Amino acid sequence: MTTIASARLVVLISGNGSNLQAIIDHIESGKLNAIISLVISNNKNAYGIIRAQQHNIPTRIAVPDPEETRQQYDCRLIKIIDDIDYDYIVLAGFMKILSDNFVDHYKGCLLNIHPSLLPRYKGLNTHQRVLDAGEKIHGASVHFVTPTLDSGPIIMQVAVDISPGDTPATLANRVLKKEHSLYSHVLSMCIDETVELSGKHVFVNGRKINKPLILESE
Ligand code: GRF
Repeated sequence: MTTIASARLVVLISGNGSNLQAIIDHIESGKLNAIISLVISNNKNAYGIIRAQQHNIPTRIAVPDPEETRQQYDCRLIKIIDDIDYDYIVLAGFMKILSDNFVDHYKGCLLNIHPSLLPRYKGLNTHQRVLDAGEKIHGASVHFVTPTLDSGPIIMQVAVDISPGDTPATLANRVLKKEHSLYSHVLSMCIDETVELSGKHVFVNGRKINKPLILESE
């Protein structure tokens, strides 16, 4: 079994950064054996940048230039990331579609969190869409990133019951709280056990998982 002493994370954000904050809190409380080497934001006003600075975590703002193609922007990101040591690239509310080149470059160490029980409700506005569809259960997923949006092999999910009076905002709030436990839980697994991407499948300690693992509610 490969054990990483203290995993080095690069976290990519675009906004509030509450998932980033949860990762920071799990690290600082000793529950997650990691350090955050760098936080990158594509948005100079992202509150997550302030959160990182409050914990003395290095930050970089990389705002896309209107003249730049997606490939050119992603090459710029790759240069920033490859200049430092990392074990995992953690997409935490990074609201930018990444090029195949970027995704292939970080294959097997690029993780994303998505606010739905994938493969259902890929893309945006998931809370509104599950309510419109009359669903009873919603949730969040952490998956390896592959070139097709929100379609990479899922490592773990957490479910959230939908209540009759839920609005997109109340539901988003409950899902987000669950995301905070889910992401750190998956990162812990990746660090303390062996979680690998092979082809389209996730292997945990050498065994293929046939369906996403489920984080039981606390
Ligand atoms: C989360 O709901 C995450 O699943 C999605 O974007 C949101 C980011 O929230 N990809 P925050 O910036 O971590 O608060």
